Amino acid sequence: MTLQEQQVAELEEQALGEIGQAATPEEVEQLRVKYLGRKGRLTLILRGLKDLPPEERKLVGRKANQAKEALEAALTQALRTLKEEALRAAAVREIDVTLPGRRHPLGRIHPLTRIMEEICDIFQRLGFEAVEGPEVELDWYNFEALNIPPDHPARDMQDTFYFNDRVLLRTHTSPMQIRVMEQRRPPVRIIAPGKVYRRDLDMTHSPMFHQVEGLLVDRDVTFADLKGVLTEFVHQLFGPEVGLRFRPSYFPFTEPSAEVDIACVICRGEGCRVCKATGWLEVLGAGMVHPAVFEAVGYDPEEFTGFAFGLGVERFAMLKYGIDDIRLFFENDLRFLKQF
Ligand code: DAH
Repeated sequence: MTLQEQQVAELEEQALGEIGQAATPEEVEQLRVKYLGRKGRLTLILRGLKDLPPEERKLVGRKANQAKEALEAALTQALRTLKEEALRAAAVREIDVTLPGRRHPLGRIHPLTRIMEEICDIFQRLGFEAVEGPEVELDWYNFEALNIPPDHPARDMQDTFYFNDRVLLRTHTSPMQIRVMEQRRPPVRIIAPGKVYRRDLDMTHSPMFHQVEGLLVDRDVTFADLKGVLTEFVHQLFGPEVGLRFRPSYFPFTEPSAEVDIACVICRGEGCRVCKATGWLEVLGAGMVHPAVFEAVGYDPEEFTGFAFGLGVERFAMLKYGIDDIRLFFENDLRFLKQF
């Protein structure tokens, strides 16, 4: 090895050593200038090659070019390593291990779903089977078969959404009485929870709301059975101390008919804004199934008797949870829903 080759080899070794020590990208850049820059130490050797005798020039030239390639590779590699380390360090700084873990938000059951399940549970324990039916209903089931003929004034009690003369959105769950009796023979013991629709909107009325219908038909069913079942239901839902009263009323599909009040669960019967100072809240419509309804489904009213009832789910939820505006159920404001 010539002296010149020896010098190049030493220069390369020195440079590689320094590059290995470089701690920042700036230091790497300074080393590039020092060895490979316009006046860099290796650059000067390469430039001086032309002054060497041809034999030596060839040997030293090859050595110097190899050294240049080696230094360039080492510089590039050193830069990349330093940048990667910097990124990793930054990432570590961003992970604050003292922070509490992220919570996964828990979904909750909507208050209407909850009260609906509670209501259905109670009746199911009393032996009623839950059935569901269509919300788009025929006039026959919603009105006719329930003893409400076309010119009957009771149709005005319920502002109906019609699709055409025959098809409508059901205004109550009572049509399920007919659908079930058409399909089965007594004994029948069902509840029918579901959505119903009326043209109505204010603090206590929504155009869509929920009802639970009940129907029990068998031999020798009496009004006492109706009172017993509804009293048990109210006591299970609101507590055994809550009083009930049955008031005479009118529905075309029951005779006799009753409306059921419970002692105001807000003021305990003292009189307040919710019960309009009466101490009572109307919560249920009920009665003994009208013979005309039995005739519409082919049951013999001489052989069978039965009772039916219908309740508004939103009303029960408002009373149970102390909510004074029905619209809260449908706005889906998380601040409201999270309280259940
Ligand atoms: N369907 C009635 C309504 O929506 C409620 C009702 C009253 C249902 C008496 C009944 C009943 O089954 O017997 O206003």
